Amino acid sequence: MKGIVLAGGKGTRLYPLTLANNKHLLPVYQKPMIYYPLSVLMLAGIRDILLITTPEDRPRFEKLLGDGRAFGIRLQYAEQEKPNGIAEALLISESFINGEPVALILGDNLFYGQGLTTLLRQAIRRLDGAVIFGCRVKDPERFGVVRFDEQKRVLSLEEKPKKPRSDFAVTGLYFYDRHAVRYAKTLEKSARGELEITDLNRIYMQKGKLSVELLGRGFVWMDVGTHQALHEAAEFMKTIELHQGFKVACLEEIAYYLGAISKEQLLVSASKYKNNEYGRYLLDIAKRKHIYPYWEAPFEPRADARAE
Ligand code: DAU
Repeated sequence: MKGIVLAGGKGTRLYPLTLANNKHLLPVYQKPMIYYPLSVLMLAGIRDILLITTPEDRPRFEKLLGDGRAFGIRLQYAEQEKPNGIAEALLISESFINGEPVALILGDNLFYGQGLTTLLRQAIRRLDGAVIFGCRVKDPERFGVVRFDEQKRVLSLEEKPKKPRSDFAVTGLYFYDRHAVRYAKTLEKSARGELEITDLNRIYMQKGKLSVELLGRGFVWMDVGTHQALHEAAEFMKTIELHQGFKVACLEEIAYYLGAISKEQLLVSASKYKNNEYGRYLLDIAKRKHIYPYWEAPFEPRADARAE
């Protein structure tokens, strides 16, 4: 499965923070926001990832993430000239996707919770059509809203409805089979002038090929689109990290545990950040005798990972 992270747009709701900065490069506590959605794709076991951003911001992402080697992924870049809608990401990615199934994640979406990796991997294994992820929220009118029956079959999908028919928001993570690009080509612009991801999902729904996975009470999902949300996300990640002593979305750590980078590669990153706590955290992981395997590793297992 291929992966796409969408990190374009103007971030106008975050002005003046985003006048000279891309929203997805803003800090969420210790890391740039983009680390969080990237970590979700990595945890899902996806290694081939395309990051879509604006022509202007592309060099900044390239400087930060390079070709992904430090994180054990193959990272490529593409540009979206204007924010023409989330579904345009699939059209831009056509040659990258190359007829395979694809996971799309929005660059401002943060997911946290025990069992996320298992949930993602199960959804990929069982993929038959498309999967969306629903999460109960207090203000569903701000999001795509999904209504479903007891078997979690999707009954309706609406984009930012004035009168939501359920409390479940559609999060910014979507798994599609190999038909997504073909369907995306049939979409027309909405009243607000965008190719809507909700319209693409509705095509799958009408074919009876859309299912919803629910993120229960043990999960936290955040759409970091406002000043308040940005602040809350940073506070949340800080609290988790300080209490647990584990980092969230530490890409080098995830890559190491997945067996996607070697101890030597981890040490290179640790020494790059040796002047701060992030670097010391990586060093500590490299020194550990035992590697905590999160799950069955889908990546090529490292020789030293197997031994320990
Ligand atoms: O976060 C989940 C929500 O994301 C869903 O519930 C909605 O159904 C979906 O439409 C979307 O709503 P938003 O109002 O949050 O979308 P927004 O325009 O804020 O864009 C989401 C992210 O995608 C943001 O990080 C910017 C990026 N983006 C967006 C558009 C429309 C692009 O890179 N290019 C685009 O053309």
